Amino acid sequence: MAQKLTVCVLFGGQSSEHEVSRISAVSVIKNLDKEKYDIVMIGITKKGKWLMYQGPVDKIETGEWENGHVARAMISPDGTINGIVKLSVDENTDELTATTAKIDVVFPVLHGLYGEDGTVQGLFELAQIPYVGSGILASSVSMDKIYAKLVFKDAQIPQAQWEVVYKYELDAIEKVVERIESCFEYPCFIKPSNAGSSVGVTKAHNRQELEKGLVLAAQHDRKILVEEFINGREIECSVLGNLNPKASVVGEIIPGREFYDYDAKYNDDTSQLLIPAALPEETANKVKQYAVSAYKALDCAGLSRVDFFVHKETDEVFINEINTMPGFTSISMYPKLWEASGISYPELLDQLIALAMKRE
Ligand SMILES: Nc1ncnc2c1ncn2[C@@H]1O[C@H](COP(=O)(O)OP(=O)(O)O)[C@@H](O)[C@H]1O
Ligand SMILES: [Mg+2]
Repeated sequence: MAQKLTVCVLFGGQSSEHEVSRISAVSVIKNLDKEKYDIVMIGITKKGKWLMYQGPVDKIETGEWENGHVARAMISPDGTINGIVKLSVDENTDELTATTAKIDVVFPVLHGLYGEDGTVQGLFELAQIPYVGSGILASSVSMDKIYAKLVFKDAQIPQAQWEVVYKYELDAIEKVVERIESCFEYPCFIKPSNAGSSVGVTKAHNRQELEKGLVLAAQHDRKILVEEFINGREIECSVLGNLNPKASVVGEIIPGREFYDYDAKYNDDTSQLLIPAALPEETANKVKQYAVSAYKALDCAGLSRVDFFVHKETDEVFINEINTMPGFTSISMYPKLWEASGISYPELLDQLIALAMKRE
């Protein structure tokens, strides 16, 4: 039997998706085959502290894990330790002792900023520790919607028309509004370039809402994206692999609200997942083909979920965005799509770890 690997599961993080990450991580930890892997759990608090945790997995989901952490944990960026430095204070003597634990691979189950955006990936590169998912460049470009759009354009993947607005331009907001109105009809979409979970995303039906939306988006990023409205169904496709990535069957989300906003994602259960999506085969194939093209164009690795709009009347396919560390709970679209394609959740984890260990 092959030697056991030590997998470090990183969860939490400083982004608005901290809670989702904890739920994703619990599913990952529960589904990792304990015959094959030893697991080291490290949580990152909302304030950015890295804490090693050894308690019950369910307390990760509730947030109670923070009180039960055993030590500050730090992944050494000098490349020599290749593991975790565990600093523990002896309660009696106040002495600080350091122990190290070797880890073979990190699974950063982190969504959003400081987790999915290349920053944490940079740390693992420095430390020369293999990790699941895309590298620095693909992670950061995918996180920045404006940059990702430039790559999709170059790869000739259809997408909504867009305009870029910088936060400083809002000092003369009437000029911005004039420019946007000369480009698009209402409704239009406004989003921070770097964000996720629909935080800061609004649909503007008139000038007043456009102004409000711009101001809101500017609270989250200095770069704002304004997009033409696509009257589309929300279609998603999972991609898995390094050099020769494969696309899963295609799924659909039916949002329970006007659009797939933060509340529709996390606060009400009226949104539905439909797997496979009821699409003509030709359209589903186009989605899969564009998903793989986008993945390759961005130089992704390991996994990504690629999100599309399929026009409700014409069936035209538009790419919306790519997520390099998509939601990974047992009911999330990414693993569900693979399940429907014949790869179970535990098998998917095996493949992701194998892909991390042999990055070509
Ligand atoms: N151009 C658009 N046309 C129609 N709906 C849109 C458009 N852009 C975004 N949306 C809606 O807003 C949601 C969130 O936008 P998205 O770009 O996916 O941001 P996030 O990264 O926060 O998920 C989408 O799932 C969709 O419901
Ligand atoms: Mg989205």
